[in-house]
Amino acid sequence: MSKEVVLSGIRPTGFLHLGNYFGAMRNYVRMQDDYTCYFFVANWHSLTTHPDTKELRNSVHRVIAENIACGLDPEKVALYVQSDVPEIAELYLYLNMLAYKGELEKTVTFKEKVRLQPENVNAGLLTYPVLQAADILIHRAVKVPVGKDQEQHLEMARNFAERFNYRYGDVFPLPYAFNYGTELVRIMSLDGNGKMSKSENQMATIYLADDDESIRKKIMKAKTDQGPATQNAEKPDYIQNLFTLMKLVSSPDTLQKFEDDFNASSTGNCVIRYGDMKKQLAEDMARFIKPIREKAEDIRLNSELLAKIIRQGADKARASASETLDRVRSSVGMNY
Ligand code: TYM
Repeated sequence: MSKEVVLSGIRPTGFLHLGNYFGAMRNYVRMQDDYTCYFFVANWHSLTTHPDTKELRNSVHRVIAENIACGLDPEKVALYVQSDVPEIAELYLYLNMLAYKGELEKTVTFKEKVRLQPENVNAGLLTYPVLQAADILIHRAVKVPVGKDQEQHLEMARNFAERFNYRYGDVFPLPYAFNYGTELVRIMSLDGNGKMSKSENQMATIYLADDDESIRKKIMKAKTDQGPATQNAEKPDYIQNLFTLMKLVSSPDTLQKFEDDFNASSTGNCVIRYGDMKKQLAEDMARFIKPIREKAEDIRLNSELLAKIIRQGADKARASASETLDRVRSSVGMNY
């Protein structure tokens, strides 16, 4: 039986961080043995918000290097750059005819971007989810490992696929967001303001390229409070975030100790010491990130190796993409 197809992408708009790792890349690595995998750098998507391409080349190389440093094997998966696969752009064109202005304007990420860059509300920004759908459907992928913030884009990809299938015949299976475990992951910023992201508060974002000292500094500054008012209290989301991170990088015993301390705490009897918790988390985080940072730097500086990996990835991706595009063209009737 042929393996299910998996696809996911990352925009090269800045340094990759813990949200990217735990929301997406960790799953890529776990999926590479069991699925046919396509992972790519979404450099076209980055033009919707970053029209200046001075840093783009470096960023693309960094994303590729960091993916490999996290454990992706370019021999097992197709690891490629979006703009190397022009078939995606043609599928985007067909899908654009099936996407409506009203639904695109209602997309949460579009509304957010309009707020952030009112001076550059370009058509690419509006049709961002259509390009994302083309990325996915071009390989007829069914599982898309992403963080929680991408859920709506996946729903839209399914809508576009269904519309295409209904109008032109069954070409696309429906893709779903995927995470091992039950829920999609959302890592918050350490200052408690929204999700961790590539370009917002850098002091509240832990990058895979951060050195030990920066990691310690950032974690020690993370938002906490006086402690819970009652035993077994519900955790505020910024405290929950520290526990989530601890669960990801510390030992189960360490996590349990701080869970127990939290649950035993109440006003006047605060057992949990957030300072100690952050110190422990900082050490465990630094230990976790160090090998990724060092390996990524080695790969990033090896331009010959990078060029070879990118070429090989493009070949694999184009082989699959052109097969789908042939089916798309003949279904639409564009084969003369
Ligand atoms: P991007 O580049 O913003 O993020 C890459 C991946 O990291 C996840 N992520 C997070 N997960 C949990 N907590 C966070 N704080 C956090 N921040 C980022 C994202 O969910 C994503 O999985 N539109 C996509 C790129 C894309 C794509 C695609 C993804 C383009 N085409 C096709 C999947 C399939 C994006 O902007 O990701």
